[in-house]
Amino acid sequence: MRAAVADRPGPLHEVVTVQTVPEPGAPGPTELTVRMTATTANPSDAVTVSGAYPSRTTFPLVPGFEGVGVVEDVGRDVPGLTRDLVGRRVLPLGGPGCWQQRRTVDHSWCVPVPADLDDRTACFSYINPLTASLMVSRYCRNARSVAVTAATSAIAGHLAELLTEQFSLRPVGLVRGTPGSTVADPDRWAEVISTADPDWRSRLRSSAPGDTQGPDVILDCIGGPLGNDLVDALAPGGTLVLYGLLSGTPLAVDCFDGRGGTRVEMFRLRDTVHSAPRRDLPGLFAPVFDLQRRGLLHTPVSAATGLDGLPGLLASGVGVGSGRGKILIDPWV
Ligand SMILES: NC(=O)c1ccc[n+]([C@@H]2O[C@H](COP(=O)([O-])OP(=O)(O)OC[C@H]3O[C@@H](n4cnc5c(N)ncnc54)[C@H](OP(=O)(O)O)[C@@H]3O)[C@@H](O)[C@H]2O)c1
Repeated sequence: MRAAVADRPGPLHEVVTVQTVPEPGAPGPTELTVRMTATTANPSDAVTVSGAYPSRTTFPLVPGFEGVGVVEDVGRDVPGLTRDLVGRRVLPLGGPGCWQQRRTVDHSWCVPVPADLDDRTACFSYINPLTASLMVSRYCRNARSVAVTAATSAIAGHLAELLTEQFSLRPVGLVRGTPGSTVADPDRWAEVISTADPDWRSRLRSSAPGDTQGPDVILDCIGGPLGNDLVDALAPGGTLVLYGLLSGTPLAVDCFDGRGGTRVEMFRLRDTVHSAPRRDLPGLFAPVFDLQRRGLLHTPVSAATGLDGLPGLLASGVGVGSGRGKILIDPWV
């Protein structure tokens, strides 16, 4: 079968090649064999392939944390109800491996996909929609003002949808001012501020309504040099949630000094998914699937490809960290 493989750690576009590899063979006693039908690429794939987590990554590695597939076979000890999944679609979670035609996964990591969600939608249900859903319910429930960095990103679009739909709260977006790069749905944002504007810090502080003195919550996936300015812009007692490191640089230590009663929280989807009892995983996805059924949490696609076209797309810079939509991969084309 065909698979996109990273033979060594490094940038995706330098180390991923498409290869013919052995079929996975019969599933282990508690495993399912999943025939992948659609998958995609995310910044988390780039970070993992870069070698950032040596203790839990071995090479060669088939990347791909996100995708959907059809159950083809079940191991002999898979429990009764799950055995009925043969022929049904699931999201195989728990680790990378979606960039291939078939994979085996422990049955407890497979989340059934509702029949009325098409592959094009289900393929993108996990990394960004679930993260956005969890962060909004965890950190924004009582917020009067929320700011979101990298507001042109796919996940920022989801955050703005969730905040407006669930809490009638339009966030303030921060962008770095890349020419031609705009937020997906301007009506869902109270204001979009470019950090290229010399006044962006004071604009952010004064963006919060009424008597508040800055955002109560800032959801940040940039990190690095922006961190201190973001902490300074928070309302007293506010929270900076760091959930990505697109700058490539960690937050400075003094961001954590608690000035003005502020705090910094780290959010990693992996921590939630890996610490939840496996039987609870379908429940985590239920609100995401419901919103997707209503046409929300839509992910724009910048390019569709088979596995063979993937290395070329990765080299062109489309789809991973570009904010202009995701790559949709059909492993069988
Ligand atoms: N913690 C978690 O569990 C978790 C889960 C999901 C996603 N994430 C993180 O969320 C982030 C966004 O993911 P995505 O899939 O939504 O990305 P995406 O759609 O590819 O968009 C990336 C965006 O980041 C902006 N950007 C890239 N590098 C930047 C930099 N150095 N400074 C400022 N802006 C920069 C780009 O803005 P331009 O418009 O200027 O090009 C682009 O809009 C990533 O860091 C990802 O790792 C984390």
